[in-house]
Amino acid sequence: MTRNGETVKWITARRRHPLAGYVVVILALALFGVGYAAMAPTAEDARAQTLAAEAPAPDDVDIAEGRAIFDQTCASCHGQDGSGTPNGPDLREAGSASVNFQVSTGRMPSMDPDSQMPRKAMVMSEEELANLIAYYDAEIRDGEAGPDVPYEVPGSEPQREDFEDEGSYEEALETYEAEYDSYIEGAEDTDMGMKLYLTNCAHCHSWSGGGGALTDGRWAPEIHDATPREIYEAMVSGPGAMPMFSDGVIEPEEKQELISYVKTLQAEPDAGGIFALDRVGQVAEGFIGWTVGLSLIVACAIWITAKQRAHD
Ligand code: HEC
Ligand code: HEC
Repeated sequence: MTRNGETVKWITARRRHPLAGYVVVILALALFGVGYAAMAPTAEDARAQTLAAEAPAPDDVDIAEGRAIFDQTCASCHGQDGSGTPNGPDLREAGSASVNFQVSTGRMPSMDPDSQMPRKAMVMSEEELANLIAYYDAEIRDGEAGPDVPYEVPGSEPQREDFEDEGSYEEALETYEAEYDSYIEGAEDTDMGMKLYLTNCAHCHSWSGGGGALTDGRWAPEIHDATPREIYEAMVSGPGAMPMFSDGVIEPEEKQELISYVKTLQAEPDAGGIFALDRVGQVAEGFIGWTVGLSLIVACAIWITAKQRAHD
């Protein structure tokens, strides 16, 4: 008799064993776990999805175009000179970091001055935003009031449509990735980043960064889609109901540690089971898939066991 034949005989002899059903369940669970781990998004994928469109160099800007954009899309609520109206606050001391944050996260132009705006796709191109910011700095901003755009912190990833040819796009992407990695990996102490996050941010955004409800219909949003620059800008500008964390309160190096913590440890899908629980999107989908799969396996196990009982 061949080896295979012996194996089959061995299995046949034990199939009816009272423990067989459980062995099947455990094997299936193990297979499912391996499959899930293989399919779960890596930190790399999560990072690629998080980023969206790099700003052109802030030197080749068109202030006249920036004025046209402001007059057409912002002045109705913030006033022609940015001094505010009943529908929108005075922007003269907000600073360009605030303008960059509000427009790049799609909050502005607002659709409804009476409610908090969700994050959405930006309504203009990176180039238009750079022009708008140049106009803001030149004509609206009160001297150097408010925080500047932290250009040294990586913003969104370059997009193919902003480049004439494949070569220059690839080059920009490479430069961007190198800058991103050096900012995130250059953080000295991510443990400190975690402590800073837990003390200053977790009570609103939850300890996983998944967000949470506040009073008066306001909410602290999920923060993992924000680019490092947007996280930095949220801290220095304090949008809506969020307090401001100036560079005097949390220093730039500490902000880098905090951002690195949010972007690496928190973004890691396998960073401990509970992390995944209040995460929305991909990870939650994975979790639901896992639960449904698990239920099916348990149902099979019950069915197999029941069949066996009937047989015995
Ligand atoms: C429909 C009215 C409306 C339009 C249009 C609008 N905004 Fe606003 N904007 C608001 C309101 C209301 C707030 C306050 C939001 C809050 O605090 O939750 C605000 C807040 C801001 C802030 C933050 C100010 C601060 O001190 O924190 C900036 C910056 C800003 N808007 C820029 C812009 C720009 C730039 C545009 C044009 C692209 C624009 N807004 C278009 C209503 C508007
Ligand atoms: C008091 C509650 C509160 C605290 C504390 C707080 N935030 Fe926020 N945060 C908010 C609210 C509210 C918003 C949305 C503001 C809006 O849309 O007008 C927000 C928005 C953000 C965003 C934008 C997310 C996106 O995708 O657009 C980021 C990033 C962020 N916060 C990071 C932080 C960090 C980092 C800390 C700690 C240093 C922190 N927040 C502390 C309430 C808070």
